[in-house]
Amino acid sequence: MEQKRSSFTGKIGFILAAAGSAVGLGNIWRFPYLAAQYGGGIFLLTYIILAVTFGFTLMTAEIALGRKTGLSAIGAFKALDKRFGFVGYLAAIVPMIILPYYSVIGGWVTKYFAVFVSGDGVAAAQDGYFSGFISKIGEPIFWFFLYIAATALIVFFGVEKGIEKVSKLMMPVLVVLSIFIAIYTMFIPGALDGVIYYIKPEFDNFSIKTVLAAMGQLFYSMSLAMGIMITYGSYMKKEISIETSVHNIEFFDTGVAFFAGLMIVPAVFAFSGGNAEAINAGPGLMFITLPKVFETMYGGQIIGAVFFLLVLFAALTSSISLMETVVSIFCDKFGWNRKLTCLIVFIGCLIIGLPSSLGNGVWSNITLLGMDFLSFFDFVSNSVIMPIVALLTCIFVGFVIKPKAIADEVALTGKFKSEKLFNVVIKYVAPVCILLILISSILDVVLVDGFF
Ligand code: TRP
Repeated sequence: MEQKRSSFTGKIGFILAAAGSAVGLGNIWRFPYLAAQYGGGIFLLTYIILAVTFGFTLMTAEIALGRKTGLSAIGAFKALDKRFGFVGYLAAIVPMIILPYYSVIGGWVTKYFAVFVSGDGVAAAQDGYFSGFISKIGEPIFWFFLYIAATALIVFFGVEKGIEKVSKLMMPVLVVLSIFIAIYTMFIPGALDGVIYYIKPEFDNFSIKTVLAAMGQLFYSMSLAMGIMITYGSYMKKEISIETSVHNIEFFDTGVAFFAGLMIVPAVFAFSGGNAEAINAGPGLMFITLPKVFETMYGGQIIGAVFFLLVLFAALTSSISLMETVVSIFCDKFGWNRKLTCLIVFIGCLIIGLPSSLGNGVWSNITLLGMDFLSFFDFVSNSVIMPIVALLTCIFVGFVIKPKAIADEVALTGKFKSEKLFNVVIKYVAPVCILLILISSILDVVLVDGFF
């Protein structure tokens, strides 16, 4: 059924909205720790190559699918081919898995903001502070609860617009502040080795895991393979260029991730000499490293507070958009009341998020496929379901509706400059690579003990 859809006001409106969803904890928290863990420069290089090929192709396909049909993921696939309706459902599961654990991390950010505001930032720079915090029972749950409650309240009262406005002002400030912190960090003795590690590709560090991690991160960071961009596309006006918009979003999203890495990875080298344990800190990397940088900085307590506040806003806009997606899926599908659905999603998130929080402490001995709960949820969404959705999207576009259907939609505003690249990647390169990576990663988990 054709519904009347409101649309984004203009090109800038569209790009900002899509970039607002794209830029979040994925760029600032997740990218740097993966880059550190998976070989520095080689990870960065792999990521950039994937972004301009896979990222470009998939984002173009998703936005065009949405705009062409005027529907969100579930409806869009079904409208074009009944047999592929299930892909929309599969995509819809992803935000449901991500939101709870995203909110656990959002809670950590809130806690660090509070610590810096209360002037305790120096304590947070001590070794063991972070692990002490996340292994507690009540405290991380309290911050997680606060964070998810804030997200739910905003969605419940429908005041997203206000938050988005504030966030649009804050985002450029976050970028500038990150660049400033990155430059500052470079002058800390020992950091230069980290800059080299982060920028210079070392082919010895390359493995299939590098590609898997980079690909999962790409999907996650650009909000791909989960139906989000299809929905955004459905709101996009016909006179706006899809190709230019995708280039802009991609550039912005990758730029923010790049500077976040430049801010965090060299600092690891400066403060720990780049030993393996520090480099492989994983999800805690940002929280362990940045307080040490702020500690050495004149006015570091205030800068730290401002920094975590900005990150908090970037995270909130993402979790709001994630929660809205989940709420609207239930409302559309079952015709539920929006406010009640909001409450149900909130409670559901609390329950599903709890193990991710407790898995860092009292429940750390419980593992799924060798992973704690948070890593497990992260793995299932980013390294399993998203690649499957991406693969099916490629097959769907490449062989069912044919790339021409997308190309025609893109060409509504003028020549589709990268059409050849698009065709080759969506039909052959992406499906083959995704399949290989998927198989190897699943075999890895099944065969090798203690994945990651
Ligand atoms: N891309 C977001 C980030 O980098 C995270 C995210 C994943 C997201 N899926 C989303 C945000 C859906 C909004 C909507 O943090």
